[in-house]
Amino acid sequence: MEPFLNIQHVQKTFSLSGSNLEVLRDIDLDIPEGSFYSIVGASGCGKSTLLRIMAGLESATEGSVRLRGREVKEPTLEIGMIFQESRLFPWLSVRENIRFGIFKTSPEDRQQIDEHIKLVGLTGFETALPGQLSGGMQQRVSIARALVNRPDVLLLDEPFGSLDAFTRINMQQEILKIWEQEKTTIVLVTHDIDEAVFLADHIVLMSRRPGTIKKIVKSDMAHPRKRSSYEYTRLRNEIYQEFFAEFKTDIEYSI
Ligand SMILES: Nc1ncnc2c1ncn2[C@@H]1O[C@H](COP(=O)(O)OP(=O)(O)OP(=O)(O)O)[C@@H](O)[C@H]1O
Ligand SMILES: [Mg+2]
Repeated sequence: MEPFLNIQHVQKTFSLSGSNLEVLRDIDLDIPEGSFYSIVGASGCGKSTLLRIMAGLESATEGSVRLRGREVKEPTLEIGMIFQESRLFPWLSVRENIRFGIFKTSPEDRQQIDEHIKLVGLTGFETALPGQLSGGMQQRVSIARALVNRPDVLLLDEPFGSLDAFTRINMQQEILKIWEQEKTTIVLVTHDIDEAVFLADHIVLMSRRPGTIKKIVKSDMAHPRKRSSYEYTRLRNEIYQEFFAEFKTDIEYSI
């Protein structure tokens, strides 16, 4: 069978003030349709760069990204992306911000938009401006805007980084709900190992720059996952050990 989302030998070198900076080396990933992948790695290891290449926002120096066999060379409606910082237009309402994500507008949009507002739990806030919403609510508008074109793939770059712990846990649950309802293939970049263990069915551990794939940990824990369960703690521990082994410090990690 043809792979769904396939990353082949991706390498990326930036040129920075006259010298070359190798950021990604030999990245190979095969992401099946409907799966939930999470990518974790240290700051600066190339996670955002990899996601931007997958979204067609950046080109790889070598290698390719293919969706259903077709090379991704530029942004496409089949792939939606959510960035760490809110990119909403402050002068547009919730509804208008989501409408902005629609490629070709049509009369049925209103219903589509309102369905997505409901999906992210913002019914009643259709006419609010971003400044009148909390950080978590703004991020939910971004999610609705990314989903309104019904992308096959949703790429999330540390989308909950700026949120407090409570809102973050709520948003993780929202994302799971969307993943289960819409069957969207999800790739989530996070530096929060706990978030990855809570959400993903595959956790990709990246090495420090130049970013390579160190390990892919598979998780077949059923949802809803219990953070206190044995299996959860075991997996979380395994990833922490793996992650910190690279830093060669004397600080011992314990939970
Ligand atoms: N457009 C660019 N030009 C030059 N260098 C860049 C560019 N974009 C990223 N880099 C460099 O590539 C490296 C990886 O950056 P990237 O943003 O992908 O890291 P990251 O893993 O997402 O880090 P973080 O967890 O802090 O977000 C960094 O050293 C950065 O300076
Ligand atoms: Mg980043």
